[in-house]
Amino acid sequence: MKLKIAVLSGDGVGPEVCAQAVKVLKAIELKFKHKFILTDALVGGIGIDVKGDPLPKETLDLCHESDAILFGAIGDPKFENSLDTKIRPEEGLLKLRKELGLYANIRPLKVFEPLVHKSPIKEKVIKNTDFIIFRELTGGIYYGEKKLSKDGNLASDQCVYTTEEIDRLAHLAFKSAKSRRKKLTLVDKANILATSRLWRKRVKELAKQYPEVSVDYLYVDNAAMKIIVNPRQFDVILTENLFGDILSDESSVISGSIGLLASTSIGDKSVLFEPIHGSFPELKGKDLANPLATILSAALLLEHFKLYEEADAVKNAVEKSIELNITTPDINSTKKFAHTTTVGDFVSAYIIDKKSVLYKMENISLGQSTII
Ligand code: IPM
Ligand code: MG
Repeated sequence: MKLKIAVLSGDGVGPEVCAQAVKVLKAIELKFKHKFILTDALVGGIGIDVKGDPLPKETLDLCHESDAILFGAIGDPKFENSLDTKIRPEEGLLKLRKELGLYANIRPLKVFEPLVHKSPIKEKVIKNTDFIIFRELTGGIYYGEKKLSKDGNLASDQCVYTTEEIDRLAHLAFKSAKSRRKKLTLVDKANILATSRLWRKRVKELAKQYPEVSVDYLYVDNAAMKIIVNPRQFDVILTENLFGDILSDESSVISGSIGLLASTSIGDKSVLFEPIHGSFPELKGKDLANPLATILSAALLLEHFKLYEEADAVKNAVEKSIELNITTPDINSTKKFAHTTTVGDFVSAYIIDKKSVLYKMENISLGQSTII
């Protein structure tokens, strides 16, 4: 298969983790005889530095003409010191989502068996947790009108949703629930917010088209508690933009590290894959960031194009790296932790030739990226 993939690695640890996912895609290309045309483009703080724009036109054009986008992370503290900064790196991502119409952000959460003890939550609570968050991505308070009074003493952010925006995401979530454990939970704040009441009304209406799916409704504060107390009760969580942002970071605690969670953002014409973590500037350039979330985002990309065998090859290699403790310090507290590049080298080498990698490993000093 021939695929044009735009690589927007962004800021902080974004370039380091994206480089590992690119290595992995190249390994898949070689092993399964595909043609992946990977093109880099600027976004976020680096876009501002080089082009004066967090989403330069060339980047947006490239995304429009690509089959898929692999995204790293954005955000740089140097733009945060001044809250008045007009151009912020985050604007690049928000504009990209809006311009490409990426309305559905799908964030799966699974517990990796060998890492179950890494979570701060008790093993018996999180074991076998497996749910997906469907987060609305191009509406709500993120995109509503923002105001600041002239004297700077009053600010407001408007939250707006239309039935069309709710319905298109709800249909995707219902379809996913139908193919899974047939349970959908709408998370909202319908006791307070008019937008939430509209979400509830629409979801109740649409539920009639999916009689096999059982639906329940939770206020977001209560859901935030239940995700930690009893995460196994969830199958598909459907929610608006801001609640989905918060609940997905919260949920990552269950998996043991936010560095493990991948996501897909879908629009009518475009599709983007990214880790759910941020740019983690403290780790930038240290070769210590966990690349697995981005590598798993590449696996989601392959699955999206129905390259299931290829996606499984990536997931198996990731599982093997976890099993063998070839992992970064966030999930490996031993002195023999691996570096970002070592994890990427291992995963790609394992995809190409697992037998010889395991054989060679006996002679390899981890941390020196000498696996291939
Ligand atoms: C995410 C991030 C973004 C968001 C930021 C970087 C704008 O937190 O993708 O979850 O808030 O959507
Ligand atoms: Mg977030």
